[in-house]
Amino acid sequence: MRNKIVVGNWKMNLGRSECHKLVDDILDSLSDNKTKIVFAPPFIYLDYVSGLCLNRENMTVAAQNCSSYDNGAYTGEISAKMLNSIEVRYVILGHSERRQYFNDTDEVLKEKVERAIDNNLTVIFCCGEEISQRESNQHFDVIKQQLDSTIFKLDINDFKNIIIAYEPIWAIGTGKTASSDQAQEMHSFIRSLVNKRYDKITGTNTSILYGGSCKPVNAKDLFSKPDIDGGLIGGASLTSDDFVSIINSF
Ligand code: 13P
Repeated sequence: MRNKIVVGNWKMNLGRSECHKLVDDILDSLSDNKTKIVFAPPFIYLDYVSGLCLNRENMTVAAQNCSSYDNGAYTGEISAKMLNSIEVRYVILGHSERRQYFNDTDEVLKEKVERAIDNNLTVIFCCGEEISQRESNQHFDVIKQQLDSTIFKLDINDFKNIIIAYEPIWAIGTGKTASSDQAQEMHSFIRSLVNKRYDKITGTNTSILYGGSCKPVNAKDLFSKPDIDGGLIGGASLTSDDFVSIINSF
């Protein structure tokens, strides 16, 4: 069966001591919670935050990106193999901020997904539509196209290492959340695509997370929906009270 997961995407925020305090505060408040919790700090803190999660079976770290190349003269890049070498087990790929500001096209993302899978990483793969696409009723087609050209190229065995995150771009950092019904409708559509591309067991076992202004005030409603298996949290993952409250919404 699929897992309940809450991922905190810290984006390009926090210094080392702030990372430490945030994780400590969360650990203090969450002693017997069994939800899978994943922290996605900036690359340079991955190893450090990973160390803070030692002995917590349900907590680990994710990278926010990886290179589409294996290795070589690519100054500033971090490969999936390097992440694997420091025992990072998750990577976020396809985030709309990477697509928008760093030219992560579907073609590039397909390569990144392959590098990640080759190096035993679980991919948290983001998809999402712009507001104009939703308003012109193209949102289902947009999501299908984003999945068809990337993760749906994987064979069924490799696809077991995929978590999907639906993040409508218009809801990210805007305070505008998709309503739980809008999110459920899209999650159910995504699961039906997985069922069709692979099979029903794979669809049932795939975790589909919601991201986009998920906060303590709306998390319970979102997480109560049958096809919403957790959250990919941005702003609210930077405050221990908010993040813990979101985790406790299950
Ligand atoms: P916010 O929760 O700040 O809207 O960000 C969502 C997100 O982009 C997580 O990856």
